[in-house]
Amino acid sequence: MAVNDIVLHGATGFVGRLVADYLARHPENGRFSWAIAGRNPNKLARVRDSVAGQGTEPGVIVAQAADEASVHAMVADAKVVLNVAGPFSEYHGDNIVGACARSGTHYADLSGEYWYQRRMIDEFHQEAERTGAKIVLAAGVDSIPSDLGVQFAIERLSAKGGRARQVKALFTRYAGSFSGGTRRSMQARKRIKQSSEYEAGFHTDPYVLAPGAETSHDGETVAGWDSRRFDRDFRRLGGPFFMAPINARVVRRSLALDGHLPCTYEEGISVAALLQAAWLYLSRGFGYFVGAPIPLQPKSGEGPPPWLRRAGSFCVRVHATTEDRTKSALVEVRGAGDPGYLATSKMLTEVGLALLLDKASPRGGVLTPATALGPVLRRRLVEAEEGRFMQFRVLD
Ligand SMILES: NC(=O)c1ccc[n+]([C@@H]2O[C@H](COP(=O)([O-])OP(=O)(O)OC[C@H]3O[C@@H](n4cnc5c(N)ncnc54)[C@H](OP(=O)(O)O)[C@@H]3O)[C@@H](O)[C@H]2O)c1
Repeated sequence: MAVNDIVLHGATGFVGRLVADYLARHPENGRFSWAIAGRNPNKLARVRDSVAGQGTEPGVIVAQAADEASVHAMVADAKVVLNVAGPFSEYHGDNIVGACARSGTHYADLSGEYWYQRRMIDEFHQEAERTGAKIVLAAGVDSIPSDLGVQFAIERLSAKGGRARQVKALFTRYAGSFSGGTRRSMQARKRIKQSSEYEAGFHTDPYVLAPGAETSHDGETVAGWDSRRFDRDFRRLGGPFFMAPINARVVRRSLALDGHLPCTYEEGISVAALLQAAWLYLSRGFGYFVGAPIPLQPKSGEGPPPWLRRAGSFCVRVHATTEDRTKSALVEVRGAGDPGYLATSKMLTEVGLALLLDKASPRGGVLTPATALGPVLRRRLVEAEEGRFMQFRVLD
């Protein structure tokens, strides 16, 4: 029988420490037992000490992700595994996903590595469907705001009697920085593209995470929003967004699993959002004026300094329309905190708590945030931190 409700694997990393901190001071802390896991016992002890006295103390599990027996023991002790040891394609995320899929243990990670995500789908989707394990990939800022935002917009359009055929998202605010782990994940993406592991078409396939999906949109690209243009529906000048290639693939998996295809998706960022982010860095002298510079080449364990984690924020608008464009819906998802780190650590934790405590559909499989938890997660995120963390609003 599981002795830990939640096991946080990779707790010693930059995001791992933020998740541990949020779990420790979460108002529902008394409702779950938890443990931190990783490969280095001394570092784990330091993380445990850093959260001591803030609620239920976490247990410590020393686990080697490369060793299947060690992973099996960690997973056998858990009801939910949160994995933040990434790049997931390089740090044996497959061993953890496989063990969870086989044993029916729920799992969530922060992967944005589409080749790893596709391999998890190919290898473990059916097994997880059978055991009822919810394997939730991309459970951070990539790709929760886009994924839940699209689901919310489609629901709104459906309430107006329309079926979505074109959905687009525009980030109108995105202020934050990146960590050593994210830098490594970007390097991993470069390596996989240069390797001969997959054919070139694999990397340019917008539906790479929706194998077998029925689509009818020739010419659709991975991100969709590939050049700068003024968009009449958003009334904004938008351009390509560096996270869109990750988010758009995840959103298309949700559209496929929920039976919304064929439906195109594109994602961009407003030029004003880029200027606002630039102003945030410049006005604080990239952190030199406030005593904690933004590391521009962060190492593992490093990331945005506390002032930026607090000053950061994001906002995405999602527009959905019918084929003849007679009906449409416009919604907005906004959140406080550096999107990739402070906000992501809260999102992943709330996913873990939803998997443990909330009543979602019994659907198992290798899923997305929207298809695994949907409205249950939306409610949680809205209620987190007494409503000060995230908001979902209908604009039209
Ligand atoms: N989806 C999103 O929105 C989002 C947002 C932020 C970050 N991320 C992703 O989250 C991941 C973590 O980022 P981070 O900045 O926290 O990274 P980090 O600081 O480098 O932490 C990496 C973690 O992985 C562990 N690790 C290193 N090598 C390992 C190995 N061979 N086997 C098992 N574990 C190993 C590290 O343990 P030690 O401490 O013992 O070295 C550490 O706990 C990255 O993949 C990043 O891209 C995603």
